Amino acid sequence: EKGGYDYFMLKEIAEQPKAVADTLLGRIDLAGNLCLDEVRIPASVLREVSKVVIVACGTAYHAGMIAKYAIEHWTRIPCETELASEFRYRDPILDQRTLVIAISQSGETMDTLMALRHAREQGARVLAICNTNGSTIPRESDAVLYTHAGPEVAVASTKAFLTQLVACYLVALYLGQVRGTKWGDEILSVIRELSEIATQVDEVLETMEPVRELARTLADKNTVLFLGRHVGFPVALEGALKLKELAYMHAEGFAAGELKHGPIALIEQDVPVVVVVPSPRGRSVLHDKIVSNIQEIRARGARTIVIAERGDETVAPYADHLIEIPATPTLLQPLVATVPLQVFACELATARGNEVDQPRNLAKSVTVE
Ligand code: M6R
Repeated sequence: EKGGYDYFMLKEIAEQPKAVADTLLGRIDLAGNLCLDEVRIPASVLREVSKVVIVACGTAYHAGMIAKYAIEHWTRIPCETELASEFRYRDPILDQRTLVIAISQSGETMDTLMALRHAREQGARVLAICNTNGSTIPRESDAVLYTHAGPEVAVASTKAFLTQLVACYLVALYLGQVRGTKWGDEILSVIRELSEIATQVDEVLETMEPVRELARTLADKNTVLFLGRHVGFPVALEGALKLKELAYMHAEGFAAGELKHGPIALIEQDVPVVVVVPSPRGRSVLHDKIVSNIQEIRARGARTIVIAERGDETVAPYADHLIEIPATPTLLQPLVATVPLQVFACELATARGNEVDQPRNLAKSVTVE
């Protein structure tokens, strides 16, 4: 049942190109238009949406953080992403023009379920992004967009995360298309690029041996830090969460711009810092800022593990270890940048003798609040 792999997690990491392709399947027509009729919220209602609120937990929350960047950019609708466990306790402002998106692999996470119930009581519409057919969260939502990742068995979420991202991009692009924004051309080109993503994830998987080797050399470290900017920030958080869950190591993700506001004090000789670097093309200001962050931490002794677009020569001199990923549009980069972090955490867990598929103290689906 593990398909020849030692762990379900390895199998599920390897299944990601197919999972991503399956989630896109049938949702883009030949002309590059999105067909999301299955989202049974009429276009007229979507045109009136004045605010989007995303609720989720754990890895799904990281997908939601990335979705915020995409939704605000392509639709210009204000979007907040909130931990489902915090949401209803702060009496959030919701009405009929609020679209709430609940993201959940299992569809049974109690915190997310309670958040969506609260949202519906306030009159908001709820769209679920879910991987499990007929589970409670989609049943209680107004509409659902299923991710087609297939069953995810390992406690640590991998392929579900990538497909949640794809689903979020589809929703963001669809909202943009339905409402018409100044980014019409960009939306069409991103839809085309999404079709390439499965191949690119596959390319990343082909080049993971150095990442595994590197992970094994870090098995006795106490701390690993992760830095990112823009959509690279939630990727950093996800990399840190995977490492906590699987390797039981102290791991923290930061927004690179926050370094000087505190976390840089943690940098000392030889501490491994994984940095997710945005593309040097596109919004190059993001790229240049993070290159100077890498220089700052390296000057203080950090061992830099840099995830950067292939051919990014400006960053290479500051990387003690360079992990190259294919070029993608800025907003889509998490689909390829997350994969090395999954492999990294899985390998570190193995090197430390941990149980990969069933980490201590964790359950696959958290059905209590
Ligand atoms: O089933 P859900 O997507 O609602 O689960 C949410 C979190 O419990 C889940 O993503 C958790 O953080 C994973 N173990 C992360 O790998």
